[in-house]
Amino acid sequence: MDIPGHFRYPMLRRNGMSEDQDMGALIGRLQRAKNVVALTGSGISAESGIPTFRGKEGLWKTYRAQDLATPQAFARDPELVWEWYDWRRGLMSPKLPNAGHQVLAAWEEAIPQFALITQNIDGLHRRAGSRNVLELHGNIWRLRCTQEGTVVENHESPLSPLPPLCADCGALLRPHVVWFGESLDPDIIGQAFSLSARCDLMFVVGTSAVVHPAASLPLAALEAGAAVVEINPEPTPLTQHAAFSFRGKAGDILPRIDWALREISGVREGDES
Ligand code: OAD
Repeated sequence: MDIPGHFRYPMLRRNGMSEDQDMGALIGRLQRAKNVVALTGSGISAESGIPTFRGKEGLWKTYRAQDLATPQAFARDPELVWEWYDWRRGLMSPKLPNAGHQVLAAWEEAIPQFALITQNIDGLHRRAGSRNVLELHGNIWRLRCTQEGTVVENHESPLSPLPPLCADCGALLRPHVVWFGESLDPDIIGQAFSLSARCDLMFVVGTSAVVHPAASLPLAALEAGAAVVEINPEPTPLTQHAAFSFRGKAGDILPRIDWALREISGVREGDES
């Protein structure tokens, strides 16, 4: 396969393989795969202008998770916690999906048995057009009644009143996100594990791969014999286990893989009609 010069990418190469052979090998795997999963983290939204958590300018460098993202913090000072979430909603509200989100949305249509699992709460995968998204850590645009557990969609920014109250019972609403020390929705994490253990190919995009149980999903895939493709400008604990490791940005690398897939499958922009 001949990839034009401007489509070259930084990649850890496997023994003696050229970049083109490696991309060819990946596309071959992708075409043969029966079940493909993508697991994303905050890095995929970095190019949309949303900060990650652990990088140089990550949120956890400036804010203490225990003050803002735990049930204890919310019980102690719901106003403070809500101010932080309202600020984050304001930051995310004008941000748009980038090319990385768009490729994954297109793969839902193009690749049979494709599943998307995200740790992100920003809702950008859905805005890009992905319909089936397992949101492991919830969604910042949903609010949950602390009394009744009902969940409502709310895109108001800034929120008023703050903290917001349940329209039905007047109790305090909380962000419908998973905080430190809380369990993930057993149905959602259960589905995520079963998809991971069934897939032949897993893309792990823009996550430091250190927060469990999400970080255990690629391990479950590896254990079941799947190949992992990591896309991340930085190495992670997963890198050594990845069959393909792209050291680059999601918004750059995913379109290149998509381009190569379309080139090799003979499907190009405009050919579908
Ligand atoms: P992290 O901040 O831990 O990691 C972000 C990863 O994205 C890093 O490995 C970066 O190198 C990588 N990255 C940065 N820019 C990128 C780009 N343009 N393309 C691809 N990768 C890029 O964020 P997460 O792994 O998402 O949990 O963090 C996991 C969880 O920890 C979050 O869901 C959140 C946090 O605490 C909760 O709030 C429950």
